[in-house]
Amino acid sequence: MRQQIVAGNWKMNKTLEEGIDLTKAILEKVEKPNGLVVIAPPYPYLRELGKMLKVRKHFHLAAQNCHEEEKGAYTGEVSADMLASVGCEFVIIGHSERRQYFKEKNDVLAAKVNVSLARGMRPIFCCGEPLHIREADTHVGYVAKQLKASLFHLKEEDFRKVVIAYEPIWAIGTGRTATSLQAQEMHQAIRVLVSKKYGKIVADETPILYGGSCNAQNAAELFAQPDVDGGLIGGASLKADDFATIVAALK
Ligand code: PGA
Repeated sequence: MRQQIVAGNWKMNKTLEEGIDLTKAILEKVEKPNGLVVIAPPYPYLRELGKMLKVRKHFHLAAQNCHEEEKGAYTGEVSADMLASVGCEFVIIGHSERRQYFKEKNDVLAAKVNVSLARGMRPIFCCGEPLHIREADTHVGYVAKQLKASLFHLKEEDFRKVVIAYEPIWAIGTGRTATSLQAQEMHQAIRVLVSKKYGKIVADETPILYGGSCNAQNAAELFAQPDVDGGLIGGASLKADDFATIVAALK
């Protein structure tokens, strides 16, 4: 069976002290997860929280972003090399907030995917459509373009390390979750696209996570869908009880 994953994206929340408390509480409440638990705190706490996670099986550290260049005069930016050197195993790439607020385009995201993989980290690549695209019923084509432009240049060997997160933008932080049927349909469509490019075996092994107002109440139904392999969790990852319930919902 392919990997099941719950990843918590803390975004720009929590102080160091609060982050340590939250991590402690999560480590206490999550017992024997049925998959991988990935935590993506803000950059300044990666090292500290990574040490706490490292001692526990199934727990992994992620960054929320990285710069697309290897190094150089990019004041304020953080490279994939730096992230790998503080223990990150995963990097979230192409989150819709990065696309929207920081104008990250598909070609830049492809470069970020490349530098992450070159430093031995697994990209959690986010895709997903805005509301008007969903309403026009062109969401599958829209997501297909995102995948083609930023992921499908990869060699099979590299693609096998990628985790895809489908996050309809209209569902992120809005409390408006995709129905389990909408999620399943899109995840299945994504798996078909991957299969056309890399073959059925690779497609069957690619974890595809759902993100967008996934919470303690709806996680079990979403994760029960055959092509939903876990979730990328924003708001609900900031509360240990909710996050632990979501992890427990993995099939
Ligand atoms: P949300 O965010 O769970 O708060 O909707 C999900 C995400 O942005 O990854």
